[in-house]
Amino acid sequence: MAHDAASLKVVLPGGSGHLGRLLTAHLVGAGHEVVVLGRGDPPAPRSGARAVRWDGRDPGPWCAELDGADAVINLAGRSVDCRYDKANLERMLSSRVDSTRAVGRAIEAAADPPAVWLQMSTATIYAHTVHGPAHDERDGVIGGREPDVPSYWRYSIHIAEAWERELADARTPRTRKVAMRSAMVMSATPGGPFAALRRLVRCGLGGPVAGGAMSMSWIHGRDFVRAVEHLLGDDTLSGPVNLAAPHPLPQREFTAALRRALRVPIGLPATRAMIELGAVLLRTDPELILKSRKVVPGKLLDAGFTHHFPTWPEAARDLARPHTREPDIEPVTA
Ligand SMILES: NC(=O)c1ccc[n+]([C@@H]2O[C@H](COP(=O)([O-])OP(=O)(O)OC[C@H]3O[C@@H](n4cnc5c(N)ncnc54)[C@H](OP(=O)(O)O)[C@@H]3O)[C@@H](O)[C@H]2O)c1
Repeated sequence: MAHDAASLKVVLPGGSGHLGRLLTAHLVGAGHEVVVLGRGDPPAPRSGARAVRWDGRDPGPWCAELDGADAVINLAGRSVDCRYDKANLERMLSSRVDSTRAVGRAIEAAADPPAVWLQMSTATIYAHTVHGPAHDERDGVIGGREPDVPSYWRYSIHIAEAWERELADARTPRTRKVAMRSAMVMSATPGGPFAALRRLVRCGLGGPVAGGAMSMSWIHGRDFVRAVEHLLGDDTLSGPVNLAAPHPLPQREFTAALRRALRVPIGLPATRAMIELGAVLLRTDPELILKSRKVVPGKLLDAGFTHHFPTWPEAARDLARPHTREPDIEPVTA
């Protein structure tokens, strides 16, 4: 398909979810052609994107979409919002590794491979850090072990490392590769972490957790899509890149700012044991709440990227306003 100079063809494997919807709205709005690869049945998409079916694992007709595309942004992976039992951890790992390998092989086989492959990774790859310096891409500590950290938390890091290894090992010399180590993306779009936090705060459950000293790293949804756009265009950036606001903050300050933004006066504190019990009831895992994520976007800042929302209180105020809902769109499935 022919494109004018400003219009790109961008393929989004796993683009039917929360981040895919954010990116699709932004990219289609900017005049780009977007193709979403998904495993589901095809309701008519109203997003402006085209939906193509894949299985997240094996080659198929979907590979032709990457041949001649300008960019691939791979978002596929089983949701991490679940109990971290053996079966779910295996699904979290295989869905990421298999889909990344499939994308790599399709690029490898393409006669006209995309110039850039942005591969989702996660800020969870860094060590649980409460008091130490924040992790950037150069000096950040991968994994690590603090005495109060449950040993099974190691598995999330193992998944992130395997995910990135698959990207690094792909033999795609004509394609620039970036591993996007993203913090939690906060957007008003339904289905993301902000919607879940807002529900808890409105129920009076937005107090400090286990003392609230653990760090929260986050990025506003609009800065996330701007950072992705920057990564698409900046040929100097490759390898791991942190996507986060430059100012992570302790959970007790994070939740207090969110309470103020939502005008909720009360936020009951929760102990670690209460979080562990609550996580069982909500079929999620306490690691998602208790791990201290302290990450800064070293490479993006060095590259001159400026955040519209560098600090959480202003981001929370923006997200709490009804008119700041992202342009929401129908999920796109193939
Ligand atoms: N949201 C965040 O704040 C955040 C932060 C850091 C990292 N991440 C990572 O970024 C990626 C996208 O995040 P998201 O919030 O958009 O997630 P999401 O809403 O769960 O969407 C992920 C998509 O992956 C696809 N998928 C699920 N299981 C799969 C499997 N077994 N094989 C192939 N594809 C599968 C699904 O698409 P189909 O069902 O249509 O195939 C789903 O829509 C995820 O890998 C997530 O871990 C997210």
